[in-house]
Amino acid sequence: MTYTVLITGSSSGIGQATTQLFAQQGWNVAATARNPASLVPLAGASVLALPLDVTDEASIAAAVEATTARFGSIDALVNNAGYGLFGPLEGITDEQLEQQLRTNVFGVVALIRQVVPLMRQRHSGTIITISSTGGRVASPFAAAYHASKYALEGLCESLRFELKPQGIRVKLVEPGHVKTGFIRSLTWATHSAYEPYLSNWRAQVEQSDDHAPGCEGVARVIFKAATDQSWRLRYPTQAGPILALHAALPDSLWASMVSTGLNRPPRSR
Ligand SMILES: NC(=O)c1ccc[n+]([C@@H]2O[C@H](COP(=O)([O-])OP(=O)(O)OC[C@H]3O[C@@H](n4cnc5c(N)ncnc54)[C@H](OP(=O)(O)O)[C@@H]3O)[C@@H](O)[C@H]2O)c1
Repeated sequence: MTYTVLITGSSSGIGQATTQLFAQQGWNVAATARNPASLVPLAGASVLALPLDVTDEASIAAAVEATTARFGSIDALVNNAGYGLFGPLEGITDEQLEQQLRTNVFGVVALIRQVVPLMRQRHSGTIITISSTGGRVASPFAAAYHASKYALEGLCESLRFELKPQGIRVKLVEPGHVKTGFIRSLTWATHSAYEPYLSNWRAQVEQSDDHAPGCEGVARVIFKAATDQSWRLRYPTQAGPILALHAALPDSLWASMVSTGLNRPPRSR
């Protein structure tokens, strides 16, 4: 039997690596992106390239329909598409905040609503949502992004209870920092009142990308989540030690450690 996965945000980074891995493992893959031309490098007999913008319900419905028309069913959904809106909350416009939540949270909800009826009918399916270490622990100047990832954590933790009797597994993959297009495509809000802390932090974030590992390990964890037949909810990747430290340290000590990055620029590269 050949299984089918639909992946959002296949044009880059984690979504691209995940598309490649599932196809290599013999799955049918509905690879989706806002601009399907970006999917040309992924072309193959088992890869169906489809346009899908997670903020456009009609494009989601069309992609789900095209996937079932071609492959017959959807066994797994990988909610991967997302981006980061960073910077001080005071510098963020309502429109920017809405766009962040529309993409990272409402986009996930819209995908889930489209595939759940199909999975419910077959009493089978796995929904994997890419959260982040940033859905468990928050860093400075990323309130909007963390709000979106913490929302996904609560959403999925609740949803797993209602979907288990329907035979549907709900899972969260929580990557630590990996090198993708994510840091390059961050939207940075600014506000003069937050200098020099904001510039120091931004430099730390951008510099940390130089040494971040590639995203192939995250793709492998996503594949494991899709295939391990367990009802496990959370799959942290790379950042297990950070989560353990965060849980073990008194909050005041944790906060002062994180704050050091605000008070000085990083050492030069
Ligand atoms: N990289 C990290 O360190 C890291 C850590 C934890 C979690 N994550 C999460 O991992 C996921 C993937 O990010 P990445 O690191 O692989 O970054 P990336 O290379 O920038 O990829 C992001 C993907 O999301 C897509 N996307 C953005 N807005 C979209 C929309 N409205 N509709 C459809 N697709 C959209 C992008 O498509 P376009 O090509 O059309 O822009 C791109 O394919 C995100 O949810 C991110 O929050 C990343």
